[in-house]
Amino acid sequence: MKRIGMLTSGGDCQALNAAMRGVVKSLYNSGEELEIFGFLSGYKGLINSDFRMLTGADFTGILTKGGTILGSSRVPFKTIDEPDEKGRNKIECMKHTYYKLGLDCLVVLGGNGSHKTANRLRTEGLNVITLPKTIDNDLWGTDMTFGFQSAVDIATDVIDCIHTTADSHGRVFIVEIMGHKTGWLTLNAGMASGADIILIPEIPYNMKSIISAIKKREARGSKFTILAVAEGAISDEDSKLSKKEYQKKLEKLKTPSVSYEVAQAISEQTGLEVRVTVPGHMQRGGSPCPYDRVFASRLGAEAGKLILKGEYGFMVGYKDREIVKVPLKDVAGKLKTVAPDATIIKEARMLGISFGDEQV
Ligand code: F6P
Repeated sequence: MKRIGMLTSGGDCQALNAAMRGVVKSLYNSGEELEIFGFLSGYKGLINSDFRMLTGADFTGILTKGGTILGSSRVPFKTIDEPDEKGRNKIECMKHTYYKLGLDCLVVLGGNGSHKTANRLRTEGLNVITLPKTIDNDLWGTDMTFGFQSAVDIATDVIDCIHTTADSHGRVFIVEIMGHKTGWLTLNAGMASGADIILIPEIPYNMKSIISAIKKREARGSKFTILAVAEGAISDEDSKLSKKEYQKKLEKLKTPSVSYEVAQAISEQTGLEVRVTVPGHMQRGGSPCPYDRVFASRLGAEAGKLILKGEYGFMVGYKDREIVKVPLKDVAGKLKTVAPDATIIKEARMLGISFGDEQV
């Protein structure tokens, strides 16, 4: 008999349900007797001992369902040692729930912040297994996170749609793609949809280079230009500021985001009509794509295997086309960013894509 706690933490994404279904199905099919405690709204459920008892029936019919049947929330790691609204120590509350219910293991589906908390719980003595979810694909230790491919599909569809209207009107279009810290989603959706300029946080841009790329297209007879811009895209100048200074600058921005600043600068410097489209949380919504359904199911099944063997303290990840277990202590607190000199960036440049950093 295994008593498993499960929670989904942080921003939701596609295939969370598929991954949980994978864990539960693989355990049931092994013949193991199970008690499943589904904590509601992420770590909040574990802190408040707010859970639902789940059975196999709860996991049928959810392979294709977006969102999470458990609900999710953000409990920031940086405040994990601060008392909660009731003055309680959050870590102690989570440990208390875990021991009170006699859990053998806690399965956490989460991104970067959630992994820090999961690792902290591991150091506190809890048995933890994690699964890498996030549309940002920025978790260290895994080549892929589930949710990412589904979000790439949606962002690509958006840019495809924008292409036709940009062409009709001869406009410059900026499509703002999610990703404050890393540009995986913008890079992949941008390349998949033939964006002309891609701006990502890892490669600071300068307006001169952007304007030159637009003008070059104009000179070649192209009536329109598409920019895929990550939420966290940053100018050369701003990248030299300290984190605090930049934060202050962002707070003072008169526009909703950097994309609008870039749009304004393009319009002022070229006289062209510029529009901004922000698909926002659409990118995290809806049904997982087939890749994510398979991928999340595989990760879930492998997590089940680790639980049966009693091997805890790992994230189930994906490296060099193999499902692997990565020690949680190695994952927590590290970000997987796009290397500015990565092969894919070089190839994109060979295709004529500008990253807004070229010398002009
Ligand atoms: O971490 C996933 C993500 O969707 C990021 O891409 C985005 O910047 C952020 O979450 C948005 O957070 P929230 O849902 O809290 O607005």
